[in-house]
Amino acid sequence: MDFKTMPSDVLFDVSQEIVLITGVSGQLGGEYAKAFLRRGARVVGLDVQPSAGSDSMAQNFPERYFFHTASVTDKVSLQDALVEIEARFGIPTVLVNNAAIDSPPSAPPEENGPFEDYPEASWDKVIDVNLKGAYLCCQVFGAAMAKARKGSIINVASIYGVVSPDQSLYEYRRKRGEVFFKPVAYSASKSGILNLTRYLAVYWAKKNVRVNSLTIAGVFNNQEQAFLDVYCSRIPVGRMANVDEYNGSVLFLASPASRYMTGANLVIDGGWTAI
Ligand SMILES: NC(=O)c1ccc[n+]([C@@H]2O[C@H](COP(=O)([O-])OP(=O)(O)OC[C@H]3O[C@@H](n4cnc5c(N)ncnc54)[C@H](O)[C@@H]3O)[C@@H](O)[C@H]2O)c1
Repeated sequence: MDFKTMPSDVLFDVSQEIVLITGVSGQLGGEYAKAFLRRGARVVGLDVQPSAGSDSMAQNFPERYFFHTASVTDKVSLQDALVEIEARFGIPTVLVNNAAIDSPPSAPPEENGPFEDYPEASWDKVIDVNLKGAYLCCQVFGAAMAKARKGSIINVASIYGVVSPDQSLYEYRRKRGEVFFKPVAYSASKSGILNLTRYLAVYWAKKNVRVNSLTIAGVFNNQEQAFLDVYCSRIPVGRMANVDEYNGSVLFLASPASRYMTGANLVIDGGWTAI
């Protein structure tokens, strides 16, 4: 195809892709699923529980969307998911490792307390879902992609996997008498994702399976004003991301537009890590 005849959107075409998104019931997973569905792809949403958004996608796109209940920490369930996906759509060609957990601001005091007392059980739980979950999904779905010699894996990371959380941001909570430090396990799990990505990118390079990380920053979700004030003053663009602002990067990493890109970390963070 030469440049005069090539339709301008071929570069970003995902209409033939079979996309598996873990954590589809959360804030961002559902956005990614809709972005792919709107562009003609077939999408499988995987999560420990369905959501209203997932039900609505199943209703609106019965031929191109279904939900599968599974935990990313359970290899047998993931293998069952692969069997179902293959039977209904074929082998996945895109895997978005998006499922993750973090300690919510309302978590018990020991979870958001000083590092010195951070509970081992919380560490194990977060590493299990965020890092082992991504490893197991790569092992099950990535291996099938490698066998089929086609695939793009997108491992969702975080600014807190590239740099440390800035504990001074949470001073406003300590000033009002709360014990609060952003905990360690989430950061450690997300930096683990970065080298899981590089390892597999090299390992599967000749098998036509690309593996990249997507590092993102905080998304606006009606957080309390005191938090928004400090967070937004720390971020160069001065605001949190809107919920749909990572769709473009996920589509890019899934599409032929990024076909020479593997083992990379695409950082979309409003400038957070530039400082
Ligand atoms: N939202 C943000 O501000 C932000 C910032 C940086 C990075 N991220 C990353 O983006 C991704 C999505 O974040 P989000 O805000 O949509 O999170 P979310 O909490 O809204 O959604 C996460 C989803 O993962 C699911 N999940 C949890 N454990 C699971 C398991 N064992 N198996 C399968 N599914 C499981 C949950 O049920 C939930 O639906 C995560 O990897 C997160 O670390 C988010």
